[in-house]
Amino acid sequence: MKRHLISAGDLSRDDALLILDTAEELARVSERSIKKLPTLRGRTVVNLFFEDSTRTRISFEAAAKRLSADVINFSAKGSSVSKGESLKDTALTLEAMGADAVVIRHAASGAPHRLATWVRGSVVNAGDGTHEHPTQALLDAFSMRRRLGRLEGLKVAIVGDVLHSRVARSNVLLLGTLGAEVTLVAPPTLLPVAVETWPCQVSYDLDAVLPKSDVVMMLRVQLERMNAAYFPSAREYSRRYGLDRARFGRLHDDAIVMHPGPMNRGMEISAEVADSPRSTITEQVANGVTVRMAVLYLLLGGSEPAIGTSAADPAVQTVPGGEL
Ligand code: CP
Repeated sequence: MKRHLISAGDLSRDDALLILDTAEELARVSERSIKKLPTLRGRTVVNLFFEDSTRTRISFEAAAKRLSADVINFSAKGSSVSKGESLKDTALTLEAMGADAVVIRHAASGAPHRLATWVRGSVVNAGDGTHEHPTQALLDAFSMRRRLGRLEGLKVAIVGDVLHSRVARSNVLLLGTLGAEVTLVAPPTLLPVAVETWPCQVSYDLDAVLPKSDVVMMLRVQLERMNAAYFPSAREYSRRYGLDRARFGRLHDDAIVMHPGPMNRGMEISAEVADSPRSTITEQVANGVTVRMAVLYLLLGGSEPAIGTSAADPAVQTVPGGEL
């Protein structure tokens, strides 16, 4: 593994599988009444959020705390950023406080890459502009593998506002590395320039793609990033690209529905589909904690198994350097 996790493209197949397998081990701990491990005791993780977040911010905090790291949560709102302090000065301030890892979400694509040139600790990209969200792609792959038992050869349709989606870009890269076949489905106005160079198929026809898909990942329509009219109306978008009950009926019986959240219920996905047993949306949130535990553990120096089991007492979880 490299020192930072900035792009899903930084991960080799072996790196990605190591993260997923480590997360699988850690998921077993999360099912126990005592969820905490001493693995990152004495380490400091800073969560640096310049953009709003619910799932990613909370799950990185939970992940670091479950590994016993000290956690500093920094939100740009209410900080000296509002007085004009730069990203670099903010980063150097946190560095001076001894951050071993900095988890950053920023509206500017490339901000985590810049940050990595200024700090000594590991940088984890928690979403940068329309660029990438690698830990979301990892938790999505983990969720697919848990539900369907494999990733190799899986047919994954990623549907909707690809243009503004860092989730789509990271998923295309990671799923390609892991052997899945991705098809992006969107109106032409919501596809990025040069999408034909991405390692995936592209379609404008959702009804044609659905029966062939094992996984349908619906993307949020990111109205807050739109500075032009990308489709005639919300109703028209929903009619062509929304996943409602009728379209859900076109999927084969084992296919699953995913959404990274937050959702626009009634626009890209109907409430009935989002809440169906074949939707993995809440599982994705839960899996986010264990996958982010695995990422922090591996970046912050885990060279031995994250957990082991004492032969004398199977209820005791042993880790490198201690017992819980
Ligand atoms: N999926 C995701 O990144 O959600 P948040 O914006 O709530 O973190």
